[in-house]
Amino acid sequence: MQVKLEVNGVEYERDVDARRLLIHFLRDDLDLTGSHIGCDTGNCGACSVIYNGTLIKSCMTLAVQADGAQIETVEGLAEDGELNALQQSFSSHHALQCGYCTPGMLMSATALLRENANPSEEDIRKAIQGNICRCTGYVNTVEAIKEATQ
Ligand code: FES
Ligand code: FES
Repeated sequence: MQVKLEVNGVEYERDVDARRLLIHFLRDDLDLTGSHIGCDTGNCGACSVIYNGTLIKSCMTLAVQADGAQIETVEGLAEDGELNALQQSFSSHHALQCGYCTPGMLMSATALLRENANPSEEDIRKAIQGNICRCTGYVNTVEAIKEATQ
């Protein structure tokens, strides 16, 4: 099937198998490997992207469902080649160790901060409840998101 979509402001048109998952399409067809695959079952959040303004797990979405959509991935966060404020805050708070969960965490936090510029700690914890991190214990991640609001 033919799919035409916009990813991080760039238009793409590709022929895809109807059963191809969006995460595989992004990584393997578009070479946007920032979004990770952790579980392939909708549990870990490593594949989180923003789809027409809404946070989704791209392992639970077919590429054909993204036809005509605007997708944002972690590659689209940097501004003029510089980490944005949220990314810088993750870096300065050591909010990552192996970094596997980080693209998904950043996209969940981005979606939160667009909806709520001044989230409480509870709001932040709720926003990242679909993102599993094996390394940091979440404390630094929550701190990083908190500071990015200031
Ligand atoms: S790979 Fe999509 S939620 Fe884990
Ligand atoms: S930093 Fe390793 S999984 Fe989160």
